[in-house]
Amino acid sequence: MSTPVPDPRSMPQPTARTVARRCAPANWLIPTGLVLLSLVPVVAGSLRLAELVGGPPIVPDGDRVAAAPVALVTHIVSVTVFSLVGAFQFAPGLRRRHRAWHRAAGRVLVTCGLLTAGTGLWLTLFLPPAAVDSELLVAIRVVVSVAMATCVGVVSARSGAATSPRTGPG
Ligand code: HEM
Repeated sequence: MSTPVPDPRSMPQPTARTVARRCAPANWLIPTGLVLLSLVPVVAGSLRLAELVGGPPIVPDGDRVAAAPVALVTHIVSVTVFSLVGAFQFAPGLRRRHRAWHRAAGRVLVTCGLLTAGTGLWLTLFLPPAAVDSELLVAIRVVVSVAMATCVGVVSARSGAATSPRTGPG
């Protein structure tokens, strides 16, 4: 004789409070980890921006990268917003309780992601090459920027972030 299998629909469902309690560590662990990961490029980018507006030359190669100042500034600003705001999109509680914020941030992040990839590609192709640049590094940068733009485009299309004010990511 086989043991009867209980119908999952008749089993008690977790309450909203139980779900919130289970997600509590993820609410701060994921954004904290992602913000920590972003710190090095964000600090390096800030030092470069400070240098471009007349600050001391702390980051090497200033003259070379200043050959494309608009692309470089756009790259650094969009990468900074993408990394820091993007980190909070992965907090389950924030996503659930502040859906309007999550959707608005999603639209900003799509723009910043595309700008990051586009300016990254531009810098790869049009900056004078550094001593350490090789053909392989250039090829990797081209592949990564196309992959990043494609991923951002696919996520945006799937969530409706770029087109519909009602059905943003979520
Ligand atoms: C999408 C792919 C990306 C490509 C192809 C790319 C490419 C580049 C290139 C070619 C430069 C000029 C650096 C040089 O030649 O010395 C640059 C600068 C920079 N990138 Fe990216 N990048 C990409 C994504 C990112 C991401 C995701 C971050 C941060 C997490 C980032 C952070 C920076 C920073 C901070 C600088 C300024 C460095 C400096 O001023 O010396 N980039 N990027």
